[in-house]
Amino acid sequence: MAIARKTKKKKVTKRPSAKQVAKTPGAARKTTAWEKTAGDSSIKFYRRIGSKGWRQSDYFTYSSSSPAFRLWLARELGTRPARILSIGCGNGELEGSLAAYGHRLFGMDLSHPMLLRAARNGVDFPIEGDARYLPFAPASFDVVIYPESIGHLVLAEAFAEARRVLRPRGRVIVTTYASHMGAHPRFKRYRFDQMEEALTNTGFDVDEQRFLAAKRNSIADADSDAKSTLLYVKARAAAAKRPVAKSKLTKNKRA
Ligand SMILES: C[S@@+](CC[C@H](N)C(=O)[O-])C[C@H]1O[C@@H](n2cnc3c(N)ncnc32)[C@H](O)[C@@H]1O
Repeated sequence: MAIARKTKKKKVTKRPSAKQVAKTPGAARKTTAWEKTAGDSSIKFYRRIGSKGWRQSDYFTYSSSSPAFRLWLARELGTRPARILSIGCGNGELEGSLAAYGHRLFGMDLSHPMLLRAARNGVDFPIEGDARYLPFAPASFDVVIYPESIGHLVLAEAFAEARRVLRPRGRVIVTTYASHMGAHPRFKRYRFDQMEEALTNTGFDVDEQRFLAAKRNSIADADSDAKSTLLYVKARAAAAKRPVAKSKLTKNKRA
C-alpha cells in the first residue's frame, strides 16, 4: 500500500525461529472460515505485517508512520467527541491517537494480528470483520474512516455500508495512495471522480477532495496527483428524505 515500499536500505533480518513465531500473538492462529470467504492474498500479507509490525516490514503507511498526518487528521475531525468507526484500522496507530482526543474508537480489520496491536495502541473496540458486512445497527456512528484501506474494497459496496451505519449528516473520510505510489498488487488506486461517483450514488454529498503531500513530519496540500502522496476525500451522509405529508399526497391525487 503504498503500502508504500520504504525507500531506505533494506535491513537484513533473520527469519524468526519457529519458537519465536509461536510466541507472536496471533501468528500461529489458523485462518477462519470467514477469512477464507472474504479472502484474497492480501489477508496473508496483512497477517504477516500484523505479526511483526510495520516498522519491521519493508512497507509503511502514513497512518502508521507519520505523526504529522495523524495530527492533521485529528484537527480535521475537530474537538467535539465523536463515535468513529475506522475500517481497515490495521495496527491502530492513527485510531489510538484519535482516541486520545476524547473520541470513541471502533477499529475494524480482517487481520487478527493487526487488531491485537490496535488494542494495545488504544483502539477502544477492536473488531475482527469484513468491511462489506458491518455488524452495526443503522445510524451508529458520527464518522466512518477508511485510512488507506479503500483500495481493497469495491467502492459501491463499501460506501453503501458506511451510509447505513452513519447517522444523517455523519461524515465519511477516505485517505488513499496517489497513483504513482507502490502498493500491494490487489490495492486499487481509485481516482477522485470514481470515489465521488460512488459516494453520490450511495447517498453522500462530497465536501472536499484534496491532494496531500504527506511526509513523516510535515503535511501540505499539493496541486496534482503526481506531486502528492495521499488523496483525501470528505463527504457527508445526505440528510434523510422527509416523508411526504399525507395532505400533499391527497392533493396530488386529486390534481
Ligand atoms: C494498507 S493497510 C492500512 C492499515 C492501517 N489503516 C494503516 O494505515 O496502517 C489496509 C488494511 O485494510 C485491511 N483490510 C483489507 N480488506 C479489508 C476488508 N474487506 N475488511 C476490513 N479490513 C480490510 C487490511 O487487513 C489492512 O490492515
